Amino acid sequence: MNVYDSEMFKKVLRPLGYIPVDEVEDADLVIVNTCTVRKKAEEKAFSFLGRMRALKKKNPELIVAIGGCVAQQEGSAILRRMPYVDLVFGTRAYARLAAMVEKFEYDRIPVVDVEMTMGITDATPIPELDAEVEVSRFVTIMRGCDNFCSYCIVPYVRGREESRDPDAIVQEVRDLVERGAREVTLLGQNVNSYGKKEGLCDFPELLRRVSEVEGLARIRFATSHPKDLSPGLVAAYRDLPKLCNHIHLPVQSGSNAVLKKMKRKYTREDYMQRIENLKAVRPDIALTSDMIVGFPGETEADFDATLDLVREVGFSGIFAFKYSDRPHAPAAKFEGKVSEEDKTRRLAKLLDLETELSEKRNISYAGTTVEVLVDGHKEVKGVFQWTGRSSCNRVVNFTEAGKPTDGNLVGKVVPVYIETGLPHSLRGVLR
Ligand code: 5AD
Ligand code: SF4
Repeated sequence: MNVYDSEMFKKVLRPLGYIPVDEVEDADLVIVNTCTVRKKAEEKAFSFLGRMRALKKKNPELIVAIGGCVAQQEGSAILRRMPYVDLVFGTRAYARLAAMVEKFEYDRIPVVDVEMTMGITDATPIPELDAEVEVSRFVTIMRGCDNFCSYCIVPYVRGREESRDPDAIVQEVRDLVERGAREVTLLGQNVNSYGKKEGLCDFPELLRRVSEVEGLARIRFATSHPKDLSPGLVAAYRDLPKLCNHIHLPVQSGSNAVLKKMKRKYTREDYMQRIENLKAVRPDIALTSDMIVGFPGETEADFDATLDLVREVGFSGIFAFKYSDRPHAPAAKFEGKVSEEDKTRRLAKLLDLETELSEKRNISYAGTTVEVLVDGHKEVKGVFQWTGRSSCNRVVNFTEAGKPTDGNLVGKVVPVYIETGLPHSLRGVLR
């Protein structure tokens, strides 16, 4: 979502004459777009901002802006802590960003805008001047979250759920496809509740409408909350060939006691049922998940239940995180905090299991042919390779051995025979 928002910053600042540069040292304006979902992300943002101090010393004209979730969370406190920051703008302020920059250029008085009141403008971040866009693009369909999982800061820094108009979304996808995109990932904190509040069409209907866009090859989405995975969404997997053979369905924990304290509103059994429903229509669907280890009160038995669930589901990939206290999130005040040592050990164990499962799954693709959407190329030890992703979201590197195509494959969906499954990618040859 931050990638999408950053594209929007570029677009709104272009009329003022700002264009992206490759090196931060060459910039007249630096925007640090931040994430605060976990403590580590916030620390990274502050350490990067720290580097801006030296830059500003060298070039006092430099404008330093901080946007996104950390800006939303800290507001004007950032100016006190880091006096070299000029602009602080929150998660819903991008429509006002150009005006903020213009004002600052004029009077050099720092500006803070963390207003949450403004809804989504239907501006799209597609660059107006650039002829082509990447093969795979994000499209935000909704912002904010109403779920209030007990560990999570998102509802506080991204605000309440708001869905964009479906016509505007479909138009944005059409425009992207016209500029060269072949795949879109529809983004929202909880895509399943798309449109409900506003009485717009529901998420499966939106998928249907997007899938009718001619020239679009693939649709992905993130993120679906397991509690809301509806029969309608399962039907979309059954009916829409453009919908990729993958779902990212964050379970967070395999222990019912922990899930309850997390306020996830489903049990392990509910989760397994949802997966069965999906497998009934897509038997080979690839499943990935987010996991938190060391949630307050998590016992060894709870953690074992997580390992057990990971094995039972056979995830093909996991993003696992050590629990960290976040401001506003109720779990920050929960008893039974798990020691750093235990969190580190549990994380390592979970990640080992993930590597094992991912490799196992990748090896199972060897000897099969997968459809790859080509997104680029690289040279490895003097050998030219195309790169792309399979429908099940595996990274695939392949050569043209014996079948040189003199054309550019980027943006094309091509069959690739998989020779080797590696821990985190597949290697093959063009069929
Ligand atoms: N501590 C650790 N991980 C967290 N996540 C969200 N909040 C926290 C937290 N306080 C993880 C969840 C979520 C992902 C985006 O970040 O797994 O799905
Ligand atoms: Fe955070 Fe839960 Fe909302 Fe996801 S669904 S953004 S974890 S509150």
